[in-house]
Amino acid sequence: MMDQVKFRAMKDGDAADYAFLTEHEIEYTKGTADRLLRALVALDEGLSGYQVTRLGHSLQSATRAERDGADTDWIVSALLHDIGDIFAPYNHDEYAAAILRPFVREQCAWVVEKHGDFQMLYYGHHVGGNRDKRETYRGHIYFDDCATFCERWDQNSFDPDYDTLPIEHFAQRVREVFARQPYDPAVLRPGARAPLVS
Ligand SMILES: [Fe+2]
Ligand SMILES: [Fe+2]
Repeated sequence: MMDQVKFRAMKDGDAADYAFLTEHEIEYTKGTADRLLRALVALDEGLSGYQVTRLGHSLQSATRAERDGADTDWIVSALLHDIGDIFAPYNHDEYAAAILRPFVREQCAWVVEKHGDFQMLYYGHHVGGNRDKRETYRGHIYFDDCATFCERWDQNSFDPDYDTLPIEHFAQRVREVFARQPYDPAVLRPGARAPLVS
């Protein structure tokens, strides 16, 4: 049994090396959900100034999604929508979408990717930005979904008095999503729109 590859440059690897790496990668991938949950906890230390931490905001978004009767793809997307704040403060939406895209409905990944632009509606005019940035996407099949996501779960989830559920409440859902077959067409369902509120 090898415990590491023989090569020092990829072009020198052989089939046994790459078979070993594939195995190794599959094992490692199983830990994605728990690594994300730990990263979410790390958001607690990030970016202060709001009345709730980034973790508190994320949990509040997910709690609101769940209470709106949204499905697992939505709840997990709401939970992780700001996870990019740690490493990608200037495109945190794209970063989060990249993490989610292989494992959730296309609708949810699109909404997470664009939520930063849609959120401008609420504060763009206070910072010299364009609050109508979302108009670029007017007519897109998921436009209304992203508008609803921001209105019901994102812009309002900075309330320290809201009865927010703890991270443990969502852990099993996160594990379930990241245990899915990546890019499974039955999960991605391009063009399908599940309601945010039911
Ligand atoms: Fe965000
Ligand atoms: Fe947010």
